Amino acid sequence: MRKQIAAANWKMNLTYQQAEQLLDGILQEKVAPGPDQQVLFAVPFPYLVLAKSEVDEEQGYAIAAQNCSDKVNGAYTGETSVEMLQSVGIRYCVLGHSERREYFSESNELLARKIDLCLEYGIQPLFCCGEALQVRESGQEAAYVQKQLEDSLFHLDDEQIRSVIIAYEPIWAIGTGKTASAQQAQDMHAHIRSVLAQKWGKDTADSISILYGGSVKANNAAELFTCPDVDGGLVGGASLVAQDFVEIIKALKS
Ligand code: PGA
Repeated sequence: MRKQIAAANWKMNLTYQQAEQLLDGILQEKVAPGPDQQVLFAVPFPYLVLAKSEVDEEQGYAIAAQNCSDKVNGAYTGETSVEMLQSVGIRYCVLGHSERREYFSESNELLARKIDLCLEYGIQPLFCCGEALQVRESGQEAAYVQKQLEDSLFHLDDEQIRSVIIAYEPIWAIGTGKTASAQQAQDMHAHIRSVLAQKWGKDTADSISILYGGSVKANNAAELFTCPDVDGGLVGGASLVAQDFVEIIKALKS
């Protein structure tokens, strides 16, 4: 089975002390991910090293960055390179979250460059895609998401795409409390997988984890994750509450 993943996206939340407390609270529940399950914490840059040292001993738990630079290194004040992430042992990086696309003008083309750098440095990108409300209301969501995939991923070869994790996050469901229905999630995930299959073949498409994100909560995770093409979730708000995120981990398919 392809990996089933519960990924926490802390965004720009929590002080260092609160972050430690949250991580401790989750780890002390001792939920042991199975061989096909993975738990990720996408934490702010200053906490990467601490968080990594906390989960290093825990099988099935790992830390992700929330972003990286599209430049290799040099005079780019305030940026964080993929090489820096690699040098502190980070193996995952969220890319193309809709907040980065919206507030920091990240384009599909820029994201293609970040994806390439991550893969070059052995970091698995967690590539986010998803449509805004007006796109869905006009019935264009399938074509819109397909273009995001084409522009940012279609230059990859088979081995490279197998290292990418995809997160489908309809923008209208992020932080709004309005979750996509299980059927809406399944339909889009099946569409994404068919787009991948047309480009790289069915075997490759079937090996890629596609997470759902957008108001995943402890009380709706199981229904969403049961869908055949939903391989877990990228979780914002509910990942900031230890008990809620623990329930979401437990809802992963095993
Ligand atoms: P949310 O955020 O769970 O708070 O909707 C999800 C995300 O933005 O990754």
